[in-house]
Amino acid sequence: MRILLISHSFNGLTQRLCCELVTRGHEISIEFDIADAVSEEAVALFRPDLIIAPFLKRAIPESIWSRHCCLIVHPGPVGDRGPSALDWAIQGGAKEWGVTVLQAEAEMDAGPVWASATFPMRSARKASIYRSEVTEAAVQAVIATVNRKNEPNFKPARVPGQAHALMKQADRAIDWQTETSAAILAKLNAADGFPGVADELFGQPCHLFDAWPEASLKGDPGSLLGRRETAICRATADGSVWIGHVKPAGGIKLPTTLAFTEAAELPELPLDGGYWKSPTPTWQDIAYEEAGGVGFLSFEFYNGAMSTGQCRRLTEAFQWATTRPTKVIVLRGGSDFWSNGIHLNTIEAAESPADESWANINAIDDLAEAILRCETQLTVAAVGGNAGAGGCFLARAADFVWLRDGVMLNPHYKNMGNLYGSEFWTYLLPPRVGDEGAKAIMRHRLPMTAPEAVKLGFYDACLPGPAFAVDVARRAAELASAPDFPEKLAAKQAKRRADEATKPLAAYRAEELAEMRRNFYGFDPSYHVARYHFVSRSAHSWTPRHLARHRDLDWKVPA
Ligand code: COA
Repeated sequence: MRILLISHSFNGLTQRLCCELVTRGHEISIEFDIADAVSEEAVALFRPDLIIAPFLKRAIPESIWSRHCCLIVHPGPVGDRGPSALDWAIQGGAKEWGVTVLQAEAEMDAGPVWASATFPMRSARKASIYRSEVTEAAVQAVIATVNRKNEPNFKPARVPGQAHALMKQADRAIDWQTETSAAILAKLNAADGFPGVADELFGQPCHLFDAWPEASLKGDPGSLLGRRETAICRATADGSVWIGHVKPAGGIKLPTTLAFTEAAELPELPLDGGYWKSPTPTWQDIAYEEAGGVGFLSFEFYNGAMSTGQCRRLTEAFQWATTRPTKVIVLRGGSDFWSNGIHLNTIEAAESPADESWANINAIDDLAEAILRCETQLTVAAVGGNAGAGGCFLARAADFVWLRDGVMLNPHYKNMGNLYGSEFWTYLLPPRVGDEGAKAIMRHRLPMTAPEAVKLGFYDACLPGPAFAVDVARRAAELASAPDFPEKLAAKQAKRRADEATKPLAAYRAEELAEMRRNFYGFDPSYHVARYHFVSRSAHSWTPRHLARHRDLDWKVPA
């Protein structure tokens, strides 16, 4: 089928649906929902058999839904209608939730239902549930819908429903004096990553994001108890919670201590166990565990963005992990994202974004180099969350890359104002996919599924989603206990030395950074402009040509 995706943006869910439909042989084109006339033009050019709207912020115009079958992906179970669906579910403590694919009609989300899927709710942030459970359920329901489109006897069912209102800040407001940590966490989770909860810190208005539970710290409700690295801890009626990120009024989302310099006055609350994973809930972005000769290093960095400071701390943690008596180190990344490369928000907020970009790319390269030069353990990148740009190549610095089936990968840099990229991609990519393959990946700017990445030879294994963590631990333990472990380690060391003799890592790095220097400091401001729009979440004013295939110059309107 020829399927047009009309979406507010090419978000993770839209990327995944696009890849899944292409894999099943459908012809896909994408148009961003910018204006009714633009969508109408896209429909006229592409002449789709079906229109799917994975992620919309407003209704499809009647001029389209009255003439074409338009299917809306609604992040709520059958009968749920209206905006803020997930927000209400999380804040209200729903035990089960779902996704419904329904036909667009005049009344929002009230059209006949084509397919649906449900999932048990997890206590997590909205953005996390959306990227994980909602995305999986949406894939299931959309595939069922597309199959049903060809079933002549299938009739979508009309179901009664209840529409809820848009959740307002008044519904999200926190009373720090009376509310418990659990209730406050539910409110903060329901609002993450957009719009956040409107509140005040240091007497200044801001929106709160990135909440973490805390098991032991207590104080006067509402008071600020202290800080740890980039987060601050605030007392509730029965304990406290950590706030990792804020968006000050008129500003961009930033780590809390960076947004409010006043936080420097708060007492530092260090973790007792260093890198070891705390046995009780608290704020800990880098956490280490060990089992069966394997060290597991998690880095739960908000949105997978890795600032200069985070890269340096993670490099130190990695180097410390290499001194442990283990045979394998598993780099687990975070639960939603493994890594999305350098931290574009902290760069934007810096006095000199060019200097901060330079510091950040050098810090992430130092981390990649530490992984590449590790001689004491075999290393595994266990990519359980999505990865983008430099994050994809940072993962490849490990000896093995194992992916959770379902993650989306964007192993290219060009979408960020034609960045050249670093993280040793010129060393890591060509041996695996060839020079032409490397150029094609970089040029195409398109997302890739886990099975595609493994098929290309870029990564090593794709493991089933639900048992990913268990499978990774088992496979890593097998690597560590394998009788041929010493030979494998020796082979790795020999290969590194041979590669170094052919062309030193320093040479790859210098070549990549020479290009990056031009991106950061050169005449062409594309990267700075693209970064500004990205961190400001500017609305799209057109759909990039690599997505809107119906706008290709050689596109022929189907007969
Ligand atoms: N720095 C700072 N924030 C980042 C980031 C980065 N490198 N990558 C992603 N984010 C943030 C986004 O701003 C967004 O923030 P929000 O909480 O305000 O919504 C959130 O992470 C999710 O990103 P989004 O773009 O909505 O997710 P997606 O699944 O649609 O797309 C990517 C994933 C990786 C394709 C996209 O985020 C991207 O292009 N990131 C930039 C990658 C990059 O160019 N890195 C620098 C070069 S190494």
